[in-house]
Amino acid sequence: MTKILAIETSCDETAAAIIEDGYKICSNVVASQIDIHRRYGGVFPEVASRQHILAIGTVIQDALVQAETDWDGLDAVAVTYGPGLAGSLLVGVNAAKGIALARNLPLIGVNHLEGHLYSNWLDHKHSGHPPRKKFPALCLLVSGGHTELVLIRHHGNYEILGRTIDDAAGEAFDKIARLLDVGFPGGPAIEQAAKDGNPNAYNFPQARLGGSYDFSFSGLKTAVLRVAQKYSNVDKLHTPADPRRSGSKMPVADIAASFQTAVVDVLVSKTKAAAEEHNVKEVLLAGGVSANSLLRNKMMSSLSQPVLAPPIWLCTDNAAMIGAAAYWRLQAGQTSGWELDVVANLPLVANSN
Ligand code: KG4
Ligand code: ZN
Repeated sequence: MTKILAIETSCDETAAAIIEDGYKICSNVVASQIDIHRRYGGVFPEVASRQHILAIGTVIQDALVQAETDWDGLDAVAVTYGPGLAGSLLVGVNAAKGIALARNLPLIGVNHLEGHLYSNWLDHKHSGHPPRKKFPALCLLVSGGHTELVLIRHHGNYEILGRTIDDAAGEAFDKIARLLDVGFPGGPAIEQAAKDGNPNAYNFPQARLGGSYDFSFSGLKTAVLRVAQKYSNVDKLHTPADPRRSGSKMPVADIAASFQTAVVDVLVSKTKAAAEEHNVKEVLLAGGVSANSLLRNKMMSSLSQPVLAPPIWLCTDNAAMIGAAAYWRLQAGQTSGWELDVVANLPLVANSN
């Protein structure tokens, strides 16, 4: 039995978890800073790192208590060292180093993106055994900073088939939510606003990029902006007003629903094509945007391969997924030295940027 204390502080969640044998969630504590950042309309990096410092001690302590264990029960300490906000990552990495050094435990630096992939390896149903996984698998990793189609041949063996060439899918959700003034964070706010809207009200562009597996959301963003500019209640955008402004109230629900459909359709069609070309046995969803129910439902109904997605609470940032990824690294003997440092733009696959 291997118990790993995992720590995650890459963005605005201070998180710690205890994971047994890479799949059993003994505890999973997440202290969210969402309410603090809401007033800025996005994550304020300096505020985020200060909040991590305030929360980290309690969050780790809670993870130990909830797992009914103590320092002596741990076999290793894992921590996210990138990608993410440098100041935020530093808090987690230094906490992990301190614990590992004090308790003479192996230290495992984990790539946040690999953590998202491994959210699919956690036994969230408490079935008592690890979820069985079949390789090769294809993972659509969609978060606030990343949109990648990853071919997983085996543990730790990844090929990036496609990625965004501009905004990440989550970033597009966040920007459009700000434009439509529906709330923060943008993804869940757009999903909520779209519930009462007509997804076919606007035919927003979906960048196909000549059949490649890369994504682009900037054209879609501009198209949504153009529509929004036609309405008088968007003066706060500080963009030149369209002289053909209608003066009527912006149909927020219709725009949100049409935007969401455009994003989801392009994500689903590229994932489907890549899954078929590479003959994968399973398709996995990961990252904050995979919490989106339209994406989950369309993916499951459109693909012939089994589509697996973690529960919503494991899609957004958490430390359980970091513990799951760390377990496989530990099994492969891949621990980190004391020189482990944060890497704000760490790619999933070296030299793939
Ligand atoms: O994975 P994550 O928690 O953090 C990063 O690593 O970036 O992803 C956060 C992103 C945000 O852009 C957020 O708006 C988006 O995931 N998101 C969603 C939903 N829930 C979170 N996007 C669409 N629909 C959702 N329900
Ligand atoms: Zn994330």
